Amino acid sequence: MVHVIIGSQWGDEGKGKIVDLLSQKADCVVRFHGGNNAGHTIINNLGKFPLHLVPSGIFNTACKVFIANGVIIDLGVLITEIEMLKKVLPNFSNRLYISPRCNLIMPYHKLLDRLYEEAKGKAKTGTTGRGIGPTYADKVSYSGIRIFDMLDPKRFQERLKILLMVKNKIIITLGGKPLKLKTIYSQTLEEFQKIKPYVKETFQPLYEAIQKNEKIICEGAQGIFLDNDWGTYPYVTGSSVVAGNVTAGCGIAPRHVKRITGICKAYTTRVGNGPFPTELMDKTGEIMRKIGQEFGTTTGRPRRCGWLDLELLRFACCLNGFTDLAITKLDILDHFKTIKICVGYALRNKKVRHVDCDTHLLGRVKPIYKTMRGWNRSTKDMRSYKDLPSEAKKYLKEISRHVNVPISLISVGPERNQTIYETN
Ligand code: GDP
Ligand code: IMO
Ligand code: MG
Repeated sequence: MVHVIIGSQWGDEGKGKIVDLLSQKADCVVRFHGGNNAGHTIINNLGKFPLHLVPSGIFNTACKVFIANGVIIDLGVLITEIEMLKKVLPNFSNRLYISPRCNLIMPYHKLLDRLYEEAKGKAKTGTTGRGIGPTYADKVSYSGIRIFDMLDPKRFQERLKILLMVKNKIIITLGGKPLKLKTIYSQTLEEFQKIKPYVKETFQPLYEAIQKNEKIICEGAQGIFLDNDWGTYPYVTGSSVVAGNVTAGCGIAPRHVKRITGICKAYTTRVGNGPFPTELMDKTGEIMRKIGQEFGTTTGRPRRCGWLDLELLRFACCLNGFTDLAITKLDILDHFKTIKICVGYALRNKKVRHVDCDTHLLGRVKPIYKTMRGWNRSTKDMRSYKDLPSEAKKYLKEISRHVNVPISLISVGPERNQTIYETN
C-alpha cells in the first residue's frame, strides 16, 4: 500500500508531524523530491527535531527510510542531521538508504543561489538560500554531480573541473569570488566518506516492499503552490511537488499509489515572495503568526499569514487527486471570534478562477470571503470529533464540502497524540 503525503498550500503545513505519526505503522518512508529547503518539525517522546533531509519515519526503529533519487543533497547538512539522530536512536545504518542517483548541492550552487537573488533585487524569489534552484537547474541541463560520480574520485575530479570552470565564469560576472577546485574536491570527498555506508540502490528494496504489500509512505516536501509547473512561478521551488512525481522521484509506478493525503493548515502561510491573495497585513495576521509560531523551520524567517483559501485548496485537490485531507493547526483558530474562509476570487467585480490567473493577476485578485463564527475555546486537549465545538465542526464541514474531499485527520497541536482521527 503506497500512501503519498503532499503539502497542499505553500509548505509548512505540518507534514513532518503527520508523517512521523503515520510512520508508527509504516514499513518504509521515502523522501522523493526537494532538498534541505524542507524543514519538517517532529515532536515525539524523544524530543523536538527539525528534519531537512532524513525522512520523518526515522523514529520508528522498524521502518526503512529512503532518500530517493529525486532528492538533492547537501552533504554537510545530511551529516549534521545523521549525527543528531545518532544521539537519540539506535544504529540505523541498515535502514537508511541514500540513492546513488541523488544530485549533490555543491558549494557553488549555494553561492549562485545568493548571487542570483542579489542580482534580481526587489524581484527576488526569497529562496531559502540552500542552492536548490541552481542544483535542479544543473540536474536538468546535464551538469549535475551525482553520488554515483563520487564513487570514482578520478571521474568526480574530472567532472568537477569542467563544471567549476563554467560556474566560476558566472560567479565572477555576478561579482562573486571564484571557488577553488582543490578545496571543493577534497571537502566533498571527505564528506562523502561519512555518508557512504548509507548509499545503497533504493529502487530494488522499494520494489520488493511493494511486492510484499508493505506499507510505504512517500513524504512530500514544500507545497503544491511552490511546484515548478503549477505553483506561482517564478516564486516557486526547483522541484516537482505534485503527487505524480513519486514515479520520477523514487521509481514507484502510479498504479501502486492507493492513498494521497493533502496536508492543509487550517489557515494559510507562505515564506518568501510571491502572490498570496488571502494574506493578512493587519493585526489579525500578526496574531496568527504569534499564536501559530509561524517562523520558518529552515531559515527562521517570519511566515506571512492569512485566512484559508479554498479556491487554491480545491485546485490542489484536483491536481493531486487527494483521497483525503488532514487539517492541521486547527487549535490556532481557537483564538478568533470570527473566522474568514476564501471561497473564490473576484477581479474587477467578475469571478475568476485561480487556474486562469498568471502570477501577476493572482497578485491582484480579491478574495470572496464567507465569514464564520469562531468557537473561541481551546481544542488542543480534544481527542474525538464529537467533542469539537459545533462551530469547529461547521468550519471543517465547509472545507470538505467545498473541495469535495473527506477529512481523515484533524491535528490540534504539534504532538503526536494531539490528533483526532474519526471525523463524524
Ligand atoms: P512541514 O514543513 O509541513 O513539516 O511543517 P513545519 O514543521 O515547517 O511547520 C509546522 C509547525 O507547526 C511545526 O512547528 C509543528 O511542530 C507545528 N504543528 C504541526 N501540527 C500542529 C498543530 O496541529 N497545532 C499546532 N499548534 N502546531 C502544529
Ligand atoms: P517544507 O517542506 C515553505 C520556499 C522558499 C521560497 C521558495 C523557493 O518545510 O514545507 P528554494 O530555496 O526552494 O529555492 O525557495 O520556496 N520554500 C518553502 N517554503 N516550506 C518549505 O518546505 C519550503 N521550501 C522552499 O521560502 O519562497
Ligand atoms: Mg517546513
